Amino acid sequence: MVAVLWRFRATLAPHRGRLAAGGALILLGSALALALPWPLKIVVDEVLRGGSVGPLSGTPLLWACIAAIAVVAALGALTTYLAERTLSGVGERMLAYLRTATFAHLQRLSLSYHQTQRVGDLGNRLTSDVNTIQGLLVAALSVLLPNVTLLVGILVISVTIDPFFALLSLLVVPPLYLVLVRYRRIIKGWAAVARKEEGRVASHATEVLGAIRLVTTNAGEDRSERRFRSFSDARLAAGLQRVDFAARLPAAVDVIVHLGRALVLLVGTLRVLDGAMDLGLLLVFLAYNEKLYQPVKQLAKLQTTISKGQASADRVQEVLAVESAVRDRPGARPLRRLRGHVALRDVTFGYDPARPVLRGVTITALPGEMIALAGPTGAGKSTIGGLVPRLYDVGSGSVQLDGHDVRDLTLDSIRAQVSLVPQDSVLMSGTILENIAFGAPHATRAQLIVAAEAAHVDEFVHRLPDGWDTEVHERGSSLSGGQRQRIAIARALVRDTPVVILDEPTSGLDAVSESLVMRGLERLTAGRTVIVVAHRLSTLQRADRIYVIDGGRVVDSGTHAQLAARPGVFRDMNELLDNRGTAPSLVAG
Ligand SMILES: Nc1ncnc2c1ncn2[C@@H]1O[C@H](COP(=O)(O)OP(=O)(O)OP(=O)(O)O)[C@@H](O)[C@H]1O
Ligand SMILES: [Mg+2]
Repeated sequence: MVAVLWRFRATLAPHRGRLAAGGALILLGSALALALPWPLKIVVDEVLRGGSVGPLSGTPLLWACIAAIAVVAALGALTTYLAERTLSGVGERMLAYLRTATFAHLQRLSLSYHQTQRVGDLGNRLTSDVNTIQGLLVAALSVLLPNVTLLVGILVISVTIDPFFALLSLLVVPPLYLVLVRYRRIIKGWAAVARKEEGRVASHATEVLGAIRLVTTNAGEDRSERRFRSFSDARLAAGLQRVDFAARLPAAVDVIVHLGRALVLLVGTLRVLDGAMDLGLLLVFLAYNEKLYQPVKQLAKLQTTISKGQASADRVQEVLAVESAVRDRPGARPLRRLRGHVALRDVTFGYDPARPVLRGVTITALPGEMIALAGPTGAGKSTIGGLVPRLYDVGSGSVQLDGHDVRDLTLDSIRAQVSLVPQDSVLMSGTILENIAFGAPHATRAQLIVAAEAAHVDEFVHRLPDGWDTEVHERGSSLSGGQRQRIAIARALVRDTPVVILDEPTSGLDAVSESLVMRGLERLTAGRTVIVVAHRLSTLQRADRIYVIDGGRVVDSGTHAQLAARPGVFRDMNELLDNRGTAPSLVAG
């Protein structure tokens, strides 16, 4: 447990003052608790043995002792209250900090990390694991710390007064220790299994509820329920094991403690009868004895809290220890005003480095050019788009902005100047305008509406109940695919960046809307570098240059007219498109 506190020392450091105050209060509280049995001893050994109990007013010593008990008890209660409040407050503050720090860290981890993680499980680490650590900290700071100081005080006083008797009281410590250590390991093991299973329960629920339409349309409820139940049952089994051991522990501790106390009572009584010891002193020892075992019993009772807390601390630490695969290099410089020269030079890249998705890709876009990427599905077009804002790092070769390798630039400065409309547009909960403003929080309402009109969002917004301020459901489920796509385009346009990457921006639109949206796009991106992944003829014809991607390689490049004249992948594709999708060019023309 000390180890857990040590691991989180950085989070405790800002609360040094409060911790010190709490520590001082605890020392004072322990001193008061140690003083409490002494007035009783004086009453038994001095007042009672004196035997001369006259009229009550004649025994000032008795009155003094009674008053002392009252004062010590009242002061003790006050210090306990203050200490507990201070230290539990530190626990709360620390947890709030840890939760935020973990969230901030998680958000900044690279996409390649998030792809391998389950959202529900990460969510669990942020909420219930952090809460469980809080249980551990509160237990450590406001329960164990006072008990341990009390323990040390008792040991020092008892050894000073009567070393033999003190040793006798300590006989139970070795067996107690052995029992505690053994159970602690077992309980912690089961707590860790339980937390892991809980993560699976949460991630399965998050995944299914997030894809509820898929589950419903495939009649997958029963299968999904069976899976959920199997995770839940595994969690239950681990929980029951933990409960079993957690319940055995205090029982075992109680037996050992009571045997120890019986021994102290036996030997103590014999010594008092022999006249080797004052009765009052035996009472003090018995009172201390009670207190001596208290920390051990508390430790046993808190074992579950502590073990669960340690298991959770491990899970939170595990996340905090991950370093983002894509991060600023030491000495990375901010990218000054980007002119818009984008280049991929001989890039090889694989999401899994062993299986390259791009091989030897070289692509150039000069400032103000519109270039198009065309090619069959799975060719690597979206992958190329993601490399420009450095969502991933290349295996070999380089991605350059205005001639600088993106790995030498700060991520913030790159992403402030490159907009990406992904293939699958995602909305957040909030209003339509808030969604458009997501990448440009300082844009004015007028600027937002200009971008929205260019992306043709206004066309459907006027039919919504609250217009621009209509609330969108989580992930935009209350809008159609094409509507979401137009909002995503507006979101990129309003950022007004020198480089804009559009990954099939109009695939969800009908021919008429597509042509209107493309015209708006061209107007707002005039003079900017645009990289567009496109299948439609209308887009391809306008491009300054088309790169044909197939199997992770650039297999051809040139203008639409040049490529259409040569046999190859492009002409095959183009002929298919011509038969199917010439409508946009008709409308546009
Ligand atoms: N996040 C990912 N992790 C692992 N592999 C991926 C990932 N994204 C894409 N791939 C793989 O990389 C290859 C290229 O994918 P990419 O998305 O770049 O294709 P695309 O040309 O955009 O296709 P489409 O026209 O269907 O959008 C595919 O074989 C795909 O399976
Ligand atoms: Mg794609």
